[in-house]
Amino acid sequence: MPVLVVVGAQWGDEGKGKVTDLLCEEADVVVRYQGGNNAGHTVENAYGKFALHLVPSGIFHQHVLAIIGNGVVVDPTVLRKEIDELESRGVSTANLRVSAGAHLIMPYHILLDRVYEVRLGKGKIGTTGRGIGPAYADKAARQGVRMQDVLDPHTFREQVKAFMAAKAEVLVKAYDQDVGHLEEECERYIEAAESLRPYIDDTALLLWNALRREERVLLEGAQGTMLDLDHGTYPYVTSSNPVAGYACVGSGIGPMELSEVWGVTKAYTTRVGEGPFPTELTGEEGDYLREVGQEFGTTTGRPRRCGWLDLVVLRHAARINGLTGLCLTKLDVLDGLDAIKVCTAYRYQGEEIREMPPSQAVFAKVEPVYEELPGWKTDISGITSARDLPNETIDFLNFVVRNVRVPISLISLGPRREQHIKVPHPDHVQRASDGRQA
Ligand code: GDP
Ligand code: IMO
Ligand code: MG
Repeated sequence: MPVLVVVGAQWGDEGKGKVTDLLCEEADVVVRYQGGNNAGHTVENAYGKFALHLVPSGIFHQHVLAIIGNGVVVDPTVLRKEIDELESRGVSTANLRVSAGAHLIMPYHILLDRVYEVRLGKGKIGTTGRGIGPAYADKAARQGVRMQDVLDPHTFREQVKAFMAAKAEVLVKAYDQDVGHLEEECERYIEAAESLRPYIDDTALLLWNALRREERVLLEGAQGTMLDLDHGTYPYVTSSNPVAGYACVGSGIGPMELSEVWGVTKAYTTRVGEGPFPTELTGEEGDYLREVGQEFGTTTGRPRRCGWLDLVVLRHAARINGLTGLCLTKLDVLDGLDAIKVCTAYRYQGEEIREMPPSQAVFAKVEPVYEELPGWKTDISGITSARDLPNETIDFLNFVVRNVRVPISLISLGPRREQHIKVPHPDHVQRASDGRQA
């Protein structure tokens, strides 16, 4: 490790939860550094199957300190429920800490999120409706409430009520909304937030001390590079910065502390919500990926849009995040295909472009340029060593490495923790016939 960032390289849902749960076997600290309960990170291990929205996916390792960083926006009712569920299923949260600097999502944020979407009509973002955008907007506008405010219950209640009154006025006057239930809802949120008091800490200091002890730290991103507020497909993005650069801001460590950045990518592409998606498949091939890959949102249950792997997107993610490794997930989903297409470039007005166009208007109109690779037509989900993979699978992996110029450090071939291969020669995945020990 010692400080590894795990970041989504596509439009989210790449399998970051699974990868984090797995890699935390070798970590001492895990930190979620941005996003909120728009995230849904699925983990399947000896405790069962979990969909985590706020708690870091390393929580299942009792020796790991699990931190919700200052860059996260916390819906206190969701966190309360998540903690209770984990505890009831035998997973201790004694090692969980929440940054005193993390902002809180309040009921008026959720209401505003939904109102904005309705107002946008056909131009809607397709948000998760969890209040993420309005909560980050209030943070930037310096009108947010934070976890630390909970420590002074009287002032906290006053603060929430004052912000609520201001928002209610806008909701009624500008958007003609019924806000009758808002006060009661805020009361429920205040109670939930107060119940989280034992978890609040100066997490940047905890991290600093861990780093001085040379402990291994994993920084777990939510969403993905293409949903990044600055580097994604704006305005069809989330309201935080999932990219690796923000891992420092959202956890409170210096940039020189980072040692590795691993980008998680599926062997194909998915997207939830609106916005451009050049390799999207709307016919049978898309249905195949959705059914076999079980591509339905962890948070909202929405069917995910599916398409071929896009290497222009991955090259963009490699640059923006400074990727030092790739974790390629859901390779098993391609098992049944005769041929696999991979997008290597785009075509726009007759010209081929290999890098992400700087204009979103152009990105919305590009056509994918594909190369077709042979499928392997074998069940690979039980394979545990790279040398046992079919030659076609190895060729597919090396094609990705050559085109993205980032080594594949980890392959995932099923949802369960044990279904993975740590690649011993990530720059060029070896065939058994290459003669070298894989
Ligand atoms: P995250 O948001 O990046 O953590 O990803 P999600 O949990 O939202 O979506 C990934 C889905 O794929 C989950 O249902 C995982 O259980 C599942 N998954 C992860 N890795 C693999 C894999 O290698 N193969 C298969 N078949 N499923 C996987
Ligand atoms: P994980 O961490 C996939 C998408 C939403 C919408 C856009 C904005 O599980 O990968 P928001 O509610 O954030 O304002 O919605 O971002 N989105 C995600 N898509 N995975 C996620 O998280 C997502 N979180 C938000 O669908 O298009
Ligand atoms: Mg997800």
